[in-house]
Amino acid sequence: MCGIIGYIGDRKASEVLINGLSHLEYRGYDSAGIALRYNDKFEIYKAQGKLINLINVIKPHQDVCLASNIGIGHIRWATHGLPTEINAHPHTCNCKSLVLVHNGIIENYQELKEELLKKGSKFLSQTDTEVAAHLIAYEYDKTKDLHLAMQNAVKKIKGAFAFCAMHKNEKDKIVIAKRNAPLVIGVGEGENFVASDIPAIIEYTKKAIYLADNQTGIVTKDSIKIYDEEGNLINNKIEHLPFEAIAISKMGYKHFMLKEIHEQGDVVRNILSSKLEGAKHQVVFDEFKLSSEKIKKITRIQIIACGTSLHAGMVGKYIIEELARIPVDVEASSEYIYRNTIADENTLVIGISQSGETADTITAIKQAKEKGSHIVIITNRADSTMARLADSLLPVSAGIEVSVAATKSYMAQLISLYLLAFYLTEQKGIVEYDSIIQNLKQELIELPNKIEMLLENTENIKNIAKKYSSYKDFIFIARGINYPSALEGALKLKEISYINATGYGAGELKHGPIAMLDENMPVLAILNTGIVYDKVLSNCEEARARQAKLIGVTNYIAQKDKDLFDDLVLIPQISDLMSPALNIVVLQLLAYYIAEYLGKDVDQPRNLAKSVTVE
Ligand code: M6R
Repeated sequence: MCGIIGYIGDRKASEVLINGLSHLEYRGYDSAGIALRYNDKFEIYKAQGKLINLINVIKPHQDVCLASNIGIGHIRWATHGLPTEINAHPHTCNCKSLVLVHNGIIENYQELKEELLKKGSKFLSQTDTEVAAHLIAYEYDKTKDLHLAMQNAVKKIKGAFAFCAMHKNEKDKIVIAKRNAPLVIGVGEGENFVASDIPAIIEYTKKAIYLADNQTGIVTKDSIKIYDEEGNLINNKIEHLPFEAIAISKMGYKHFMLKEIHEQGDVVRNILSSKLEGAKHQVVFDEFKLSSEKIKKITRIQIIACGTSLHAGMVGKYIIEELARIPVDVEASSEYIYRNTIADENTLVIGISQSGETADTITAIKQAKEKGSHIVIITNRADSTMARLADSLLPVSAGIEVSVAATKSYMAQLISLYLLAFYLTEQKGIVEYDSIIQNLKQELIELPNKIEMLLENTENIKNIAKKYSSYKDFIFIARGINYPSALEGALKLKEISYINATGYGAGELKHGPIAMLDENMPVLAILNTGIVYDKVLSNCEEARARQAKLIGVTNYIAQKDKDLFDDLVLIPQISDLMSPALNIVVLQLLAYYIAEYLGKDVDQPRNLAKSVTVE
């Protein structure tokens, strides 16, 4: 949500800023803007909508673009005020001497605004950021020092921010500040960068400094100074970025989502390579910091997450309860917070997040931490805020996921949860599950090949996608461990195609949703051989009796039952317990091809953000 970039060096700042912003597009945005230092003043360019609109705004100003080597840029996801040009960042103050971009939310902006109005500030936008720009400018008038002004201003601000500011009197300098919003400094030679996330800078440098909360900094082309809240100069370590620029290219695929779906076999292989030597070996989880004695004392597990990560957590509940025999509650982070949740030192709290920056999950984790629970974080971003809150950090290392719709990160979360369930069972010494776990490990090892078998032949799924793309509504049903698959399949479809898709436990169909069934409401049923197979089949009969079109996703269907379905997708043989990891690939592809057929903006669906940094 929102993305910041800043550049100071010898390159053309406009090019670095636009390029950087293009690699932050995945975060979700509805307007964009840049400010360039030029002839001792700032030129500000903004546009509503996509980055291409900003590029067109800038085009006639080549003189400025060629000459300017310092600038800041932003993509905005509207929180305060409409996604208009006037509300787009950078914002400035009355005399246009300061420019500011901001990621986050200023909670006390109304009170600050009232005070500043009394002091003569004139506001043009409805944003909280413009209030911050005036506040910093007001502090600058008192101190004549931008960094000091920033330090004074952030003391008065409540809420979350990553700020990047320039002042016309302080020629070669970008001043930054951070609290509860990501900000990283890219360290170059004779140039430096500031960004909300690594994809914006990875093309230019592999060295970075992460700012901690309440730190401020001064970035020039040859130096970086970071200060703590008290104003002491401190030494944050320079980290080597583990990403390749190639990770943010589409590699010939039409969309990042399709590329990321196709990467899933390797994602699984990659996780297993360091954690599971073979089916007969125990899981290696050095990152898990609880001793087996402490694991034996765990009385309950709480999994907190949002969206797709929440669905992974629901699969996790099923496997952990089945094998490790520990009761697991799974809750949306936004529901976990703001109530007196019951957790103590014998509760294991697992936060799951692709980005590691989801505001609701961060708040929930902090709440659980206060109760003394051991915090496990499963995230794709070992460099994230959530990772820093972890007692045990389990990075899933799926690689940068660019498409807003999560696919390979979900797969990686599932695999980590399977491994965690095995690990907890082994550490608890539950020997009666040894052979079950050994079989499941073998299936995990074979999973990448099965995923790739599915991905090699997608014609059937493409045809089904085309056939059903004109429907306005969809129902997904499943039972047991695939109930979360139904939820996730429906979420994927609605996110990228805007078709009204809902997932239900198949048994719930007759308790209400069945009223909606007719020939205009296709039902997609996930049936895997196992305990609930016959039950789901009966639920399919009930849907068919209401003239609903039926699509089956299954690893087995008897000849006599085939006619029940209008369309069938057969997946390779797999046990019920492991099947969510294969079924989801079908559902991801179906959602993808429907959205693609409808011509939707697959990688950047409307209104969505990759990293949801507001509660
Ligand atoms: O980064 P997180 O996993 O914490 O994000 C949680 C959700 O915002 C995310 O899964 C969202 O639902 C995705 N758009 C799903 O495709």
